[in-house]
Amino acid sequence: MNEQDVLIIGSGAAGLTAALVLAERLKVLVLAKGPLDGGSTAWAQGGIAAVLDEGDTFEDHIRDTMVAGGGLNRRDSVEFVIENAPQAIARLADLGVPFNEESGALHLTREGGHSHRRIVHVDDATGYAVQEALIKAARAHPNITLRPDMVAIDLVTDRHRDAADGRRNEAGVAVAGGRQVWGVYALDAATGRVECFAARSTILATGGAGRTYLFSTAPRGATGDGIAMAWRAGARVSNMEFMQFHPTCLYNLDVKNLLITEAVRGEGGHLLLPTTGERFMPRFDPRGELAPRDIVARAIDHEIKRLGLDYVHLDISHKDPDFVRGHFPNIHERLLALGIDMTRQPIPVVPAQHYTCGGVLVDLAGRTDLPGLYAIGECSESGLHGANRLASNSLLECFVFGDAAARDILARWDGFAPPPVIRPWDASRVTDSDEEVVIKQNWTELRRFMWNYVGIVRTNKRLERAAHRIKLLKNEVNEYYGNFRVTADLIELRNLLQTAELIVKSARARRESRGLHYNQDYPATHPAARDTVLVP
Ligand code: FAD
Ligand code: SIN
Repeated sequence: MNEQDVLIIGSGAAGLTAALVLAERLKVLVLAKGPLDGGSTAWAQGGIAAVLDEGDTFEDHIRDTMVAGGGLNRRDSVEFVIENAPQAIARLADLGVPFNEESGALHLTREGGHSHRRIVHVDDATGYAVQEALIKAARAHPNITLRPDMVAIDLVTDRHRDAADGRRNEAGVAVAGGRQVWGVYALDAATGRVECFAARSTILATGGAGRTYLFSTAPRGATGDGIAMAWRAGARVSNMEFMQFHPTCLYNLDVKNLLITEAVRGEGGHLLLPTTGERFMPRFDPRGELAPRDIVARAIDHEIKRLGLDYVHLDISHKDPDFVRGHFPNIHERLLALGIDMTRQPIPVVPAQHYTCGGVLVDLAGRTDLPGLYAIGECSESGLHGANRLASNSLLECFVFGDAAARDILARWDGFAPPPVIRPWDASRVTDSDEEVVIKQNWTELRRFMWNYVGIVRTNKRLERAAHRIKLLKNEVNEYYGNFRVTADLIELRNLLQTAELIVKSARARRESRGLHYNQDYPATHPAARDTVLVP
């Protein structure tokens, strides 16, 4: 059994922010299931929202966040994050993130739903610069150990105490089935061995669940692992029906997840029908291309279905070519390699899954229902985003909640008991699978029906169909899981199915349309906004 003070699962913006604060006093182990920069953080393009512009106010940012969120946001969380944003940006600048500047001040770009220029950025590849700076600082810290290629399987709780541990309650009865979290079991992807990592406190920073859907801008590892692990261990999960679809993912039959940043629309890009060249967004919303994402994605989906199109056009070729190349150097280059010159021609785009607004229910310190367990970043539901996340508020959430969770652990440290003796992983009754095809088949099937039945526009019938299929696949995968040695693919498929079940359950429980959740059978919005809270 490996033992450390604090265990963090995930090396993205949330996990490494927490690690750097905790390491001031404690020993921290960070696990990542692939390379350290394999999460969504390194892929973030647009930037980080913060009130820095003259004339902008916290109240304006709070209002924009709550308008986008369909009124479902928790006001205390929104205030907490937004008021801490300028400080978070300053800390990143201190770490060496080379934010773009203009005339001696940070350059701020604009994105949908924001009433001001508010987005600090590093060209059109902000996440890469942030991830690099965080990894560099974590590598240099003597109190932080980084272990890439470790796939967390399940949380270790009181249920996994070793029988010989002999812990008894006041009545002298052996303690079993408790809710305290003591770490994780994780698969070493290189050796195939499962190790137990025990800690006084565990932080989930595992990112989103985008890969539940056939088309997603998220990296391959976005399989909802943290959400599924927390749910299995007994934590509540909330608002999983609110899956964000980004309006503008490149339409290309080979390259399926190249995001075209919202900042292209923020800097004047137009959405056009490829058939007539009509700029169609003003028909749907007075804010046009800069309406919140749910509105833009639904409008594109509507036009694509109405006209039988494969895609719509995003066009910024009316701007000066140097301006376009200057603002979007990476996207420009990646599109050129695919034969599209965005300074001269429109870009074919479609909506794709982009962000998981729901997750493990947490308080303002990132604490979950389970003692010892915290959740931060995209795997959590902190009340910030409500029914729809405002653009560029999510990296911000990672920095503010990463810091808050770490400080809460430091403040309570003396109350955290050392972990008990934990049972080692038992692989004595499983064999190697000779039918890996089952995993591939189920993975593809799941993602396809989630896209078709639980996508941008939902109906009761489609949700019922999805629920039925998930039940069948879950039975099949659970049986497989019980009989065969775990692999990274099997762990992910099991989590994807668990997450899909939570999404569909939440979507069926919401009998209205709000924010990202649009059900044709319940098109109206209730006057009172209520969270969907699932209890294990
Ligand atoms: P991630 O950065 O996704 O990191 C997850 C970590 O968990 C990884 O290290 C992964 O290896 C690890 N992990 C997962 N499962 C396991 C497991 N089972 N075992 C061990 N480790 C595990 N947001 C913005 O605010 N601004 C933007 O401009 C922006 N642009 C985006 C562009 C794209 C293409 C995408 C996909 C997202 C974008 N977002 C943006 C959203 C934002 O990037 C994410 O919400 C944010 O980076 C999530 O950070 P995180 O730390 O929570 O998780
Ligand atoms: C983008 O650059 O369009 C993504 C911004 C975000 O997801 O917040």
